[in-house]
Amino acid sequence: MKTQVVIIGFGTMGKAIAKAIAKKDRQIVIFGIDKDKPNMKKIIQKVSEADFIILSVKPQDAKEVIMGIKNYLNKKTILISIMAGVSIKELIRLSGHRKIVRMMPNLGLSVGQGIAVWKQTGLSSLEFKKAKNFINKISDNFEIKNEDTINKVTAISGSGPAYFFLLADSLVKASSKLGLNKNESRKLVEKTLLSSALLGNQGDYASLIKKVASKGGTTESALKVFQKENFSGIILKAVVAAYKRAQELSNG
Ligand SMILES: NC(=O)c1ccc[n+]([C@@H]2O[C@H](COP(=O)([O-])OP(=O)(O)OC[C@H]3O[C@@H](n4cnc5c(N)ncnc54)[C@H](OP(=O)(O)O)[C@@H]3O)[C@@H](O)[C@H]2O)c1
Repeated sequence: MKTQVVIIGFGTMGKAIAKAIAKKDRQIVIFGIDKDKPNMKKIIQKVSEADFIILSVKPQDAKEVIMGIKNYLNKKTILISIMAGVSIKELIRLSGHRKIVRMMPNLGLSVGQGIAVWKQTGLSSLEFKKAKNFINKISDNFEIKNEDTINKVTAISGSGPAYFFLLADSLVKASSKLGLNKNESRKLVEKTLLSSALLGNQGDYASLIKKVASKGGTTESALKVFQKENFSGIILKAVVAAYKRAQELSNG
């Protein structure tokens, strides 16, 4: 029998997950549900037959969505939530369901380069294997033991792509200020970002920085400004803010 998957919330992540699964395994049947899919009869049928249901709506829509499906959940279904800050306890409270996986992926999965962490509850060892096998189709991943780690991971890799886009955007703007046109600037920044990511596993970051920054050179001048303006401190503050927000959401 083919694995049946229902994705509720067919936005950025829901669609990206569907694509990632379809690329890896054509045998899996995916049914995406969005707000504008009002065919309730079909939704009820798909939900009640699903091997996996992925909740991919915004955290503030969690209650409404879970209440809508709770009466049709099959006991065997594995419910996977990727919602930031919605705890396993809350997922169980809202759904009354026992087999839950809370997962934190990132947008990287849409280009086959995702990283995700997850924690499960209520799965038998067979279901655990089934879930692990399924998650492997979505993204590179690892299991974590302490649920609060998911809030920390949310602040690093979940939100992380946005931090890099902000850096890239700032570089493009700076490049334009220096007089380069937008297309040239984007090309320069995109290639630099991509190659830096690929170089990233070739050593510790301090040594990699040294490879670019020679003493008394141009990079060193830039790095001095970053240091003076406490770039690392700003990053830390931003990450802590994201972590705290994930904790706030978790605590309702
Ligand atoms: N984006 C990321 O990088 C990222 C990374 C990790 C985790 N997440 C988590 O993933 C979840 C989804 O994020 P996203 O960025 O994909 O958001 P999104 O693009 O806004 O997608 C959410 C989708 O859910 C739909 N929706 C809202 N209420 C619904 C309902 N009652 N029934 C069915 N569908 C409904 C929305 O439709 P409308 O637009 O019509 O309201 C939208 O298409 C969030 O909980 C977020 O914390 C996101």
